[in-house]
Amino acid sequence: MPFFRDRVYPNLVALLGNPRPIREVRQRIVPWARGTVLEIGAGTGANFVHYDHAKVTKLYALEPNPGMVRLADRKRRKTSLDIEFLDLPGERIPLADATIDTVVSTFTLCTIPGVVDAIRGIARVLKPDGKLIFFEVGLAPDPQVQRWQARLEGIYHWLFQGLHLTRDIPSLLKQGGFGIEQMEAAYIAEFPKSPSYCWWGIAHPATTRQPTY
Ligand SMILES: C[S@@+](CC[C@H](N)C(=O)[O-])C[C@H]1O[C@@H](n2cnc3c(N)ncnc32)[C@H](O)[C@@H]1O
Repeated sequence: MPFFRDRVYPNLVALLGNPRPIREVRQRIVPWARGTVLEIGAGTGANFVHYDHAKVTKLYALEPNPGMVRLADRKRRKTSLDIEFLDLPGERIPLADATIDTVVSTFTLCTIPGVVDAIRGIARVLKPDGKLIFFEVGLAPDPQVQRWQARLEGIYHWLFQGLHLTRDIPSLLKQGGFGIEQMEAAYIAEFPKSPSYCWWGIAHPATTRQPTY
């Protein structure tokens, strides 16, 4: 349904995707980005305003949905950051190996279809001392909430075009070869709990990089 995906969904994310508790976490974690930055699934550009201009030299905003890019471009015009949009999916990052200082993913690893490929791609483009800043929703620790997450997964998946409520993002990051340097986790809203269990923090590619010939 391209009309829903390209027109309705971006406005839905613009309307519902940045309430105060989420904005407060963005405000805390996005300024950790430095150097050449790749934001994966940049969406409507909700993070643009939170980057520290003194630390970010270039921002690649990867976003395959043209409706999202239209909204994000309005935010781009309000900042002096050097932002370049990349319109490929995050499973195929069009950047060279070991060229990125920071990757930022907010509510994208919980959405992207090929999450394992995306995590491998993030590890590939990061410099050896690079970091991934993440903020994602997913599988809650409480069995009762988990049952509701399983029930509501289909609705959220449709409404938010691929969103998963039941992904265990920290485990996926570890499986993808990342070590987690720091992380917090909480329900960011008291109700409803099923779409509000989030993790945010910093991860590093843990495995020794093999040269690609
Ligand atoms: C819930 S929105 C989050 C947007 C934004 N990161 C934010 O924090 O507001 C999920 C984003 O992932 C993007 N997305 C979906 N599939 C993707 C893919 N294969 N590669 C990259 N981004 C994708 C969507 O277009 C959307 O912008």
